Amino acid sequence: MKREEVLVTKEELNIQNEYAKKVKEYYDTQGKTPKALVETFGCQQNENDSERICGMLETMGFGFTENEDEADFILYNTCAVREGAEMRVLGNIGALKKIKEKRPELIVGICGCMMQQESMSKRIKSKFKHVSVVFGTHSLYSFPEIMYKAVCENERVISRIESEGRLCEDIPVKRKPGPSAWVSIMYGCNNFCSYCIVPYVRGRERSRDPEAVIAEIESLAKEGVKEITLLGQNVNSYGKDLERDIDFADLLLMADKVEGIQRIRFVTSHPKDMTDKLIATLPKVTKLCRQIHLPFQAGSNRILKEMNRGYTKERYLELAEKIRAVMPDASFTTDIIVGFPGETYEDFLETVDVIEKVRFDSVFSFIYSKRGGTPAAKMENQVPEEIKHKHFDILLDVQNRISREINETYSDRIEEIMVEGISKNNPDAMCGRTDSGKIVNFPKDDTLSVGDFIKVKITKISTWSLAGERV
Ligand code: 5AD
Ligand code: SF4
Repeated sequence: MKREEVLVTKEELNIQNEYAKKVKEYYDTQGKTPKALVETFGCQQNENDSERICGMLETMGFGFTENEDEADFILYNTCAVREGAEMRVLGNIGALKKIKEKRPELIVGICGCMMQQESMSKRIKSKFKHVSVVFGTHSLYSFPEIMYKAVCENERVISRIESEGRLCEDIPVKRKPGPSAWVSIMYGCNNFCSYCIVPYVRGRERSRDPEAVIAEIESLAKEGVKEITLLGQNVNSYGKDLERDIDFADLLLMADKVEGIQRIRFVTSHPKDMTDKLIATLPKVTKLCRQIHLPFQAGSNRILKEMNRGYTKERYLELAEKIRAVMPDASFTTDIIVGFPGETYEDFLETVDVIEKVRFDSVFSFIYSKRGGTPAAKMENQVPEEIKHKHFDILLDVQNRISREINETYSDRIEEIMVEGISKNNPDAMCGRTDSGKIVNFPKDDTLSVGDFIKVKITKISTWSLAGERV
């Protein structure tokens, strides 16, 4: 697609704004502020999409609630990466049938990656009659039109699946208040790793114009945001689809100049696109956090090839070393898949070997999940469930030991953290995060506000978090 076809035009956006106004007028004439409950499954990209959905709902006159019984509209923004997540969503959606029977005026919707798959959309259409709003990731920008039909014309809207993803600037975003924000810099993925559904449901890579990205970061800084996370399925290929000469390293340097922002993070990187230029740029980005997330997925070269990852174990280890050479104190995290078709115990040991050699701070490990439509789903030598689970447990044991050992090196250290709020597990404690991404709990202090930067001395460590005292 040409760039001008990728971008949603001002005219198209105006049409959507008109639909949003009509929905608002509809509720206004009823003297009602409708309430929406938006539940998000999956990755940060989905969270960011939900923030845009909520932004659009706000322009349609909606308020928000966490309570299903209070909601006029319940929307599930779904993830398709693993089967387990899909099953959970279907279970939850099924459970909404009872509420819909009691309150027929309730509108139930499903959107996101699951709904970008024809088979799933059809399944909802025929089996979940209480769901009346269905749209995939590519239709996000036309959400006001979908809602107009559902609310004002009382229609069941099963949106046509648009085959190409586009880019839409100027959609309002409603973020949770706080010092941290996600900023999508690109959408989609061109990599077609053989196990992964993402390229099929998120479409081809589309980079936002750098001016739009920087303008968004500037406006976030004005609102008081201190930490941004640049988002994309593969941020390292940012700019490849733009007609000018700009890459992710350039964008990082531009973001670094935005006043008021104090921390920059980014996810996710693909090892095959981590260029020497990018690695050399990392230490020049003054606000960049000492944290690198670099998925390696598997340690066996044979499996990496079958996965279509485009690098070898040796290349990955070399990359990790190069990054450590320029950012010696960076924390390292990764994604790993256990039980890809054909993975033997010997192959799995190669994965463990990478874990031992790189010594990740933490890993996001996943049991391979067969995704219809991907090449790996058709591979014959699928690994039995019990073997996958056995290997998974071994991996967790190895990683938990390493995570704890690394955390122990934080003992007695003085670290700067950004205060994030009350600790999740203890109402008498607050928590914050080091720039290496470690959660630190510390005694509640009423003089502190969310977003403050303070120094703490680490007094206690565990596998998952640290505890400290303000100094
Ligand atoms: N099964 C298991 N894990 C998967 N991931 C992607 N597809 C699958 C799948 N079919 C994991 C990868 C990716 C992370 C976001 O999800 O590790 O990096
Ligand atoms: Fe999926 Fe691979 Fe793209 Fe990541 S890089 S989203 S694993 S296809």
